[in-house]
Amino acid sequence: MKFAVFISGNGSNLQAIIDAVQSKKITADLNLVVSNKSDVYGLERAKKAGIETAVFERKDYVSLKKREEAIVDLLKKKEIDFVVLAGYMVLFTPYFIQQYPNRILNIHPSLLPDFKGAHGIKDAFESGVQKTGVTVHLVDEEMDHGPIIKQQDVLIDPTDTLDSLEEKIHAVEHVLYPEVIQSYIENFSQS
Ligand code: GRF
Repeated sequence: MKFAVFISGNGSNLQAIIDAVQSKKITADLNLVVSNKSDVYGLERAKKAGIETAVFERKDYVSLKKREEAIVDLLKKKEIDFVVLAGYMVLFTPYFIQQYPNRILNIHPSLLPDFKGAHGIKDAFESGVQKTGVTVHLVDEEMDHGPIIKQQDVLIDPTDTLDSLEEKIHAVEHVLYPEVIQSYIENFSQS
């Protein structure tokens, strides 16, 4: 099986996935990294690992739909079976989702449905909850929504700062996401 990872930034989850592919903890081929920004560190990580990259910037397309059509054309050309979102900060239109039904995974740094959106860690921290976490889910047409595959709790200690909580969340993400991707691949192969 072949998959693509979509990023918009630092790509620390991408790195965890690259490492898991290289050590064969993930048994599918990571053939493409897609970014909506040309100057992000995640693209460097992909290049260092010898993975093809593609950038689809908003300014180069007359509409979101046109950009998605260009992305889908590339995914089809490369025979990508499923898509992994790792910090991709763009919402898809229904058109894109319909091209890959139940074949798009996302990771979100909270226990969904709590704290959706771009600031899941900060929002949980500022709300005063004692527990937050990480969610991996299939993507549907709503933001940070769709069938949950796995969640893991992260406790917020009284001594935690926003920085220390972010570190704890990312550490969980980097273990959880490769594991869930691999179990997804195994279930997929059986179905
Ligand atoms: C992660 O916290 C992920 O849960 C969220 O965006 C962040 C991406 O971080 N969707 P990175 O680019 O993988 O370092």
